Amino acid sequence: MSAPLLEVDNLRVSFPTHQGRVEVVKGISFTLGRERLGIVGESGSGKSMTGRAILRLIRPPGRITADRLAFDGTDLLSLPERKMRAIRGARISMVMQDPKFSLNPVITVGEQIAEALKVHASLPRGEVRGRVISMLEAVRINDPERVARLYPHEVSGGMGQRIMIAMMLIPEPDLLIADEPTSALDVSVQAQVLDIIDNLVTGKGMGLILISHDLNLVARYCDRILVMNAGEVVESCKAGELENASHPYTRGLLAAMPRLDETREELPVLDRAGWGGT
Ligand SMILES: Nc1ncnc2c1ncn2[C@@H]1O[C@H](COP(=O)(O)OP(=O)(O)OP(=O)(O)O)[C@@H](O)[C@H]1O
Ligand SMILES: [Mg+2]
Repeated sequence: MSAPLLEVDNLRVSFPTHQGRVEVVKGISFTLGRERLGIVGESGSGKSMTGRAILRLIRPPGRITADRLAFDGTDLLSLPERKMRAIRGARISMVMQDPKFSLNPVITVGEQIAEALKVHASLPRGEVRGRVISMLEAVRINDPERVARLYPHEVSGGMGQRIMIAMMLIPEPDLLIADEPTSALDVSVQAQVLDIIDNLVTGKGMGLILISHDLNLVARYCDRILVMNAGEVVESCKAGELENASHPYTRGLLAAMPRLDETREELPVLDRAGWGGT
């Protein structure tokens, strides 16, 4: 067997503060194959820092250490920045929590997606164009020809998130890290966008790390779940075995969440008879 897609052993992220160095990720470990891993936990638990650390996107004085951080057998921590840049976007890409900030305001949507296709320079223009349009179609953008010519401020928040996802998927990475990719969307669009990610990830046999504070959502879209609390992994289990989770923190999250398979009594509805209706 080849190496796992991602090996994370004793990953730590720390920042200097007035009280000395504070660890915000406190030695987490997991391995990932071509599967869907959910990282869930409350605000500030270290989810985004974990995702960014994998891509070495923590700026000094922030510091990343690990006993092992390897992608497809390659040690990432010792990799020269130049080689790390070649991995970012091309083999591992990350949909950031605030996609609006990640789009360049002065470049059209179509050009930015083309740019994300790292090999675009070596492809005929017509082919690049065709791939951009079909990627926009894949994320269910209506009228992709028109949208490709728009600037980021001319698209809605929901479209912006879908455009970011198109940008991250067009290079066909092996691993997608999606940090709250649908947080700016209303619930119906949220499910639609997650289904799109899920289809592309499953269809291409990629690895996915889906970061969210929503246990229900990760349970639905992931095979395996890590629960983080205060920088530590407090629970690691298969999504289907979540109900056997033992850690009190996870039990608390579970208690707060409506079960998907729960057969419920029909919700009480108002009796409209008295309203003079039919
Ligand atoms: N530059 C920084 N300097 C010091 N501490 C930081 C810095 N950036 C983040 N932190 C701290 O790291 C901790 C983890 O942050 P992180 O962004 O990973 O949380 P999160 O789990 O993604 O939360 P959310 O659900 O709100 O996105 C937080 O307590 C945050 O305050
Ligand atoms: Mg976050």
